[in-house]
Formats: sequence, C-alpha cells, structure tokens
Amino acid sequence: MLKICLQDFDGSCKGSGTNGEWGRLVETRVKGRPMLEKNTRIADEAEIVDEAILSRRSVRAFLPDMVDDDTIRAILSVAARAPSGTNMQPWKVYVTKGETKQQITDAILNSGIRAEKADWDDYRYYPTQFFEPYLTRRRANGFGLYGALGIGRREVDKMRAQHDRNFVFFDAPVGMIFTIDRRLNQGSWIDYGMFLQNIMVAARGRGLHTCPQAAFAPYHRQIRPVLNIPDEEIVVCGMALGHEDISKPENAFRTDRVPLEEWVTFSE
Ligand SMILES: Cc1cc2nc3c(=O)[nH]c(=O)nc-3n(C[C@H](O)[C@H](O)[C@H](O)COP(=O)(O)O)c2cc1C
Repeated sequence: MLKICLQDFDGSCKGSGTNGEWGRLVETRVKGRPMLEKNTRIADEAEIVDEAILSRRSVRAFLPDMVDDDTIRAILSVAARAPSGTNMQPWKVYVTKGETKQQITDAILNSGIRAEKADWDDYRYYPTQFFEPYLTRRRANGFGLYGALGIGRREVDKMRAQHDRNFVFFDAPVGMIFTIDRRLNQGSWIDYGMFLQNIMVAARGRGLHTCPQAAFAPYHRQIRPVLNIPDEEIVVCGMALGHEDISKPENAFRTDRVPLEEWVTFSE
C-alpha cells in the first residue's frame, strides 16, 4: 500500500494516509501539498495520475490566499511539456494579479456589453446553433450549477450575475489569459488544449484549483489594451487559479460524464 504524506509549506509532514485516502486528502487540504514519502514504490503510479486528473474540476469560488510566482512558474513550466505538432509550442500566457487583473475586470464589466451580446468575432468556441446530444448536456450543466446556487430557471438576472463572476476570475488571486498566433491552424489548437489541461492537472499536484474560462474570448477588445496583446494574437480563453473556497455552494456542484459505451467503438 502506498503511503502519502500531507506536506505543509515548511516541508513538515502534517499527516499521512494510504493511497485509498488520496482523493480525500486532495479534496480536504487547502494549502498543504501531498507528496510521496521517500522510498515508496511507484507501483501505484496509475492511481496517482488518475487522481490528479479526477480531482480536477471547475472551481468557481476561490479564497483570497495568494499563489506565489515560483509556484505559477513551476505549473506553467511543467504544463509546457505538453506535446505539440513539430514541437511548435503555440501557447502564450499573460499572468495577471492585483491591479492588472482588476483592470481586466473593470474593462469588461464597464464595457456595457452583456455576455449574451458579446461578439465571438475572433473565433467561435461554441456552435452557432446547439443541437443534440450537446444541447441536453449543456442544459444539464447550466441547471446543475444554477441549482447548486439556488437560482431558479427563470431568474435571468441572477444567472447573469453568476456569469459575470467569470470576469472577477471567481475571486481567484491569479487570472491567466491565453493567446495564440492567429496564423496557426486547427492542429495548434489541439496542442493548446493539452497545454491547458496540463496546467489544471499540475495545479492539482500543488493543492490548487482552476477554472478554464472561454467567457473572456469575446471581450478581447477590452483585454488587449490592458495586456498589450497584439492583433496577431487571438485570445483563446482565460483561467482562474487559486485555493478553492470549499464553503461556497457553487463548488459543491459536480458534473457527470456520458458512459464510455456511448462514445467508444472497439474493433478487431
Ligand atoms: C476551454 C474551456 C472553457 C470554459 N469556459 C468556462 C467559462 O467561461 N466559465 C465557466 O464557468 N466554466 C467554463 N468552463 C468549464 C466547463 O463548464 C466545465 O469544464 C464542464 O462543465 C465540466 O465540468 P468540470 O470542469 O467541473 O469537470 C470551460 C471549460 C473549458 C474546457
């Protein structure tokens, strides 16, 4: 059985458990970082990797606790080990905190452009018209989140207010904006997704949570002057990074997944 040590910032071990308890440890610690005790076997690698992936979810309320620059750099460096066609590494990241992050928030919320009117003129994340089975899945996601928040199906103003929480990065201390050279093709966008996922998983390894945020993309005109993003770059999305506020109801929301049988075909 693999032993896991819950390490505090000073490196001391604040408790330990078996690999079966890993998920609970990952969920309950706030600042501590789980790590393998020295000399443990790595036979349970699959479990550790799976848990890092499975414990990632979109967190939509963060504590004000800061994430230090060394940690952000470490997460981004690890994430940049993502594969990319001919190793082109098409990602570009703008890390914002404090005043600059606030300027992005202000530029968007003071623009007077409501999310439903915002123009996805640089790239389209979603289909122009939703269709099945995606429409049902999308609705289930929306109702699930709003349900956790006690927002009824006709409470449009409350839904808007929740959507606007995107633009304060859900109160996370770190907000990242991701861009890509607009001359690049679809293949580089595949690469980009791997990079983004790596960031989110690497954050989990450090006791942190994330929320990827396409909501920023249609506001690229408001974001560009704040971060000096040239026209040659498309704003792909944003991402909140920080410590989860476990007291907030939106963070109790869990998404499900379609059973494997519905989307996999094995052939021999
Ligand atoms: C590229 C990308 C953009 C997303 N944009 C947003 C967003 O703008 N706001 C938001 O609250 N969630 C956003 N999400 C989170 C999805 O809603 C979420 O991943 C999905 O519902 C599955 O839930 P989970 O991440 O908790 O597993 C985004 C996810 C991805 C991958």
